[in-house]
Amino acid sequence: MTSVLFVCLGNICRSPLAEALFKHHVHNKGLAGLYQADSCGTAHYHIGSPPDPRTLRNAEKNGVIIRHLGRQFHPRDFSSFDHILPMDQSNYDHLLRMDGSESWNHKIKLMRTFDPLPGDESVPDPYYGNERDFQEVFDILNRSTQELINFLEQQRNFRS
Ligand code: 4NP
Repeated sequence: MTSVLFVCLGNICRSPLAEALFKHHVHNKGLAGLYQADSCGTAHYHIGSPPDPRTLRNAEKNGVIIRHLGRQFHPRDFSSFDHILPMDQSNYDHLLRMDGSESWNHKIKLMRTFDPLPGDESVPDPYYGNERDFQEVFDILNRSTQELINFLEQQRNFRS
């Protein structure tokens, strides 16, 4: 089983949506059982909280249900997960700082590395934004999670 961890700041907007979309597409592609996903935040503000109501509403409008309670990144996640996907450069830098020995660098990739459309390198933080910002995040993560699955499937087929 390949495991993937999505990381943002609060773990109530971007990363729980990325986790839900990843699971949604894995299921629809008939790959359930091959992949495991979770999400977390670099900050502690929303530990135990459900996702932001605006994220839940927007996802539901787009046919995706999110089931997740906030948790903070823990150093043990470096060894527990095969791939760690921070949403923006600040989350990425935070993880690199925690990985003092640089042993886990190879697992960490910016989520938007997998965006098939050209654009910014980060998934924008919608927390202070409006409905249009939440939809933009949904669209970015919808295409990026599918491209991530394509990449992981190529790796899996190459190995077998
Ligand atoms: P997220 O968005 O990192 O995508 O979950 C945020 C959620 C909460 C806060 C900032 C960003 N906050 O400052 O509480």
